[in-house]
Amino acid sequence: MAAIEFRDVYFRYHEEAPWVLKHFNLKMDSNQTVAILGHNGSGKSTIAKLANGLLQPQAGEIYIDDRKMTPANIWEMRQKIGMVFQNPENQFVGTTVRDDVAFGLENRGISRDEMLVRIQETLQQVGMESYEDHEPYHLSGGQKQRVAIASVLAIHPQILLLDEATSMLDPRGKKEMLSTILSLKKQLSITIVMITHDLNEITMADRVIVMKDGQIFKDSTTDRLYDNQFDLQSIGLRLPLTVALATELEQQGYSFTNYPLDQEELIDALWKSHSKM
Ligand SMILES: Nc1ncnc2c1ncn2[C@@H]1O[C@H](COP(=O)(O)OP(=O)(O)OP(=O)(O)O)[C@@H](O)[C@H]1O
Ligand SMILES: [Mg+2]
Repeated sequence: MAAIEFRDVYFRYHEEAPWVLKHFNLKMDSNQTVAILGHNGSGKSTIAKLANGLLQPQAGEIYIDDRKMTPANIWEMRQKIGMVFQNPENQFVGTTVRDDVAFGLENRGISRDEMLVRIQETLQQVGMESYEDHEPYHLSGGQKQRVAIASVLAIHPQILLLDEATSMLDPRGKKEMLSTILSLKKQLSITIVMITHDLNEITMADRVIVMKDGQIFKDSTTDRLYDNQFDLQSIGLRLPLTVALATELEQQGYSFTNYPLDQEELIDALWKSHSKM
């Protein structure tokens, strides 16, 4: 099953503007974690907004869960995708964390008992269960984003779409968010789409799509992404430190079967590489 599919989609913001997406095709399988990377203006957020019906293509079709999105079913389809955006400050409506998660449920005819269950359940999923009575404004950036994820998960979406949801956070907040996303991936059968600039954030992705000027520039697994890392640098992506270091070491005669994606893998690869020298 495909969670999200774009078929020959054309989109531009207005008639005189250039096409952002032209003859664009992309199919994302259900229950996968997909990272979408790319330079500023490459079309990542446009893809996100088209997928949840905030924008409509001028031509082509978009399918969610193998069902074509139409003006008649757009509201129903939107329930299937939970979106979390960049700015943690813009995602709050409630005066407590509990109210905030409840807000999205209130207009959906969900009973009070069911609401309380979902609030507890989703706050637990993001590790924020002890903050139910806290005021959202006093939370750290990472905690705010985790509550934003809980609010979205409470609606039971099939797809969780994070558009640069970590980019405004400090290193600690980013780390918190990434481990939350990884734990959601393990706990839930849900499709996760993470849009990011940061190659350090994609290690848990099953698939990585790199966008360039509205086109798919690279479609790869995380392991194979760096096989030709110069083209990633050529479109302005900064390599993770471990990959950059491994690349430098190659100049010194070391060789790597897979580029190391974290410190542990680096040390391991260095041992293996060194013993071959
Ligand atoms: N509301 C808008 N009106 C007109 N043009 C827009 C609008 N939003 C985006 N664009 C243009 O569409 C193109 C794609 O933008 P988009 O926001 O999808 O890129 P992005 O990959 O998300 O970039 P970033 O990394 O900066 O978030 C860019 O050329 C951008 O200038
Ligand atoms: Mg964007």
